[in-house]
Amino acid sequence: MNQNLSQLAPYLLEFPKIYDERGNLSFIESEKHIPFEIKRSYWIYDVPGGEVRGSHAFKTEHELLVALSGSFDVLIHNGKEEQRYSLSRSYYGLYIPPMHWRTLDNFSTNAVALVLSSTFYDSTNYIRDFEEFLSLS
Ligand code: TYD
Repeated sequence: MNQNLSQLAPYLLEFPKIYDERGNLSFIESEKHIPFEIKRSYWIYDVPGGEVRGSHAFKTEHELLVALSGSFDVLIHNGKEEQRYSLSRSYYGLYIPPMHWRTLDNFSTNAVALVLSSTFYDSTNYIRDFEEFLSLS
């Protein structure tokens, strides 16, 4: 595996917050507030109770996850160990480097998971088999 990619680790980051009595505002600029250029954004919503999304890794894709509304957990496996992150604030993001197995679960009612991605959609970028992921890590 690419040595540089293997050294990257997930981390939480906090976005700028403009407090206002009319309602608060946060923002993200590509490559400035997150460590990659944004090529794509998508969001996951209307998740039925107890449902799980994800459960795969990306070969080269960097991602940033934000709980725009409600809350959910992200379970990340780096090939050696697993860590659980809980996202519940729209001004926090979770950066996930390539070659990290990630699973989204524990969605609250009305949760909206925003995903910012460094790549356009490409099904060949997915690793969907956990044993294959472990062998490549
Ligand atoms: P997938 O990434 O497999 O969802 P999850 O990992 O949460 O289970 O995507 C589900 C479907 O949506 C799959 O058929 C591919 C399609 N899709 C796109 O067409 N474009 C996208 O940007 C994404 C993320 C998914």
